[in-house]
Amino acid sequence: MTTAAEDVPLLAARDLRVDFRVGGERLRAVDGITLDVARRETLGLVGESGSGKSTFGRAVMGLVPLSGGLLTYDGVDPSDLGRRERRQLQARYQMVFQDSSATLNPRRTVLDSVIEPLVVHGRLSSRQRQARAVELLERVGLSEAHGRRYPHQLSGGQRQRVSIARALVLDPELLVCDESVASLDVALQAQVLNLLSALQRELGLSFVFITHDLGVAGHMSDRLAVMYLGSLVEIGPAGAVTCDPRHPYTAALLSAQPEPVVGGRSRERIVLTGELPSPTDPPSGCRFRTRCPMAQDRCAEQAPEWREVAPGHRVACHFDFDGRWDLATIGTRASVGSVPPGPPVAAS
Ligand SMILES: Nc1ncnc2c1ncn2[C@@H]1O[C@H](COP(=O)(O)OP(=O)(O)OP(=O)(O)O)[C@@H](O)[C@H]1O
Ligand code: SF4
Ligand SMILES: [Mg+2]
Repeated sequence: MTTAAEDVPLLAARDLRVDFRVGGERLRAVDGITLDVARRETLGLVGESGSGKSTFGRAVMGLVPLSGGLLTYDGVDPSDLGRRERRQLQARYQMVFQDSSATLNPRRTVLDSVIEPLVVHGRLSSRQRQARAVELLERVGLSEAHGRRYPHQLSGGQRQRVSIARALVLDPELLVCDESVASLDVALQAQVLNLLSALQRELGLSFVFITHDLGVAGHMSDRLAVMYLGSLVEIGPAGAVTCDPRHPYTAALLSAQPEPVVGGRSRERIVLTGELPSPTDPPSGCRFRTRCPMAQDRCAEQAPEWREVAPGHRVACHFDFDGRWDLATIGTRASVGSVPPGPPVAAS
């Protein structure tokens, strides 16, 4: 049985907005995101390049200011806290970036980089910090000897392990992993993903797992949230979103995967044409309408409301879409080919 405290989401975003000013124009990188992340949950956040995934992650980490909406951490709004309490709260939420050079100082040894957050937060004695950093390096599959090296003396996969150790040193409860394996080759990706899964099981962590790779996201996540031009379009259990996508954008992303993610039946491969519109001037109504193969007049006039299509599976589209394309209406917004049936998907 869960306690009341456990029912409070570890992270909650409500109508979250982040704007940047670019050349005198407002660029809304995150536009009205509402979602929760539960304890010990992995929420995958997927979408094309430029859809606002990293900006959302950076907002969670307090690295970019909010332009609107609310973020609560374990039910607490950090703006209600003093500076010291806010820092303590935010230490429970850490980020692993795609590029380890963003977190590792080339002039510091690996051990010093892992220790640094403990120094900044004034935690533990010098001897204890050293021991804690070595313990974490070992936990991520490295040794004390790796700790004496500089970042350039490690491989890309080893550097990413160091970034993970550094993110864990303050004992966080939630990690935002932003394309954390994207720069690694396939074999190393698998190793680091396995490490993250093991850490999650052993430490009871929650993840926001940001990636443009739906295959990886589907494999790692309990739930998937699909983002387009700053907003979510679909959210639900990972198996449901990947096997039974109910938003045309999700279905198009899935059909563009080199390996079929959907199993069981043959389907059309839909390749979207056109670029992501500029977030400085998003389309009216449904923002996907300029590329949506299913768009109708109503889509330009009205933004779709969220609808629950199955328990916990919600979609923002005016129409019931079952993942099968009406080829007669697709026109020039997508090109169509066929995809062989994927492997059967076992019922969970
Ligand atoms: N500091 C910034 N100043 C101005 N615009 C920014 C800034 N950071 C991001 N943007 C813009 O915000 C939008 C969202 O960018 P973001 O990096 O969040 O996308 P993303 O989904 O993480 O993309 P990718 O998959 O390429 O990493 C883009 O249009 C980007 O150009
Ligand atoms: S609301 Fe219209 S444009 Fe938007 S996804 Fe649905 S069909 Fe496409
Ligand atoms: Mg990004």
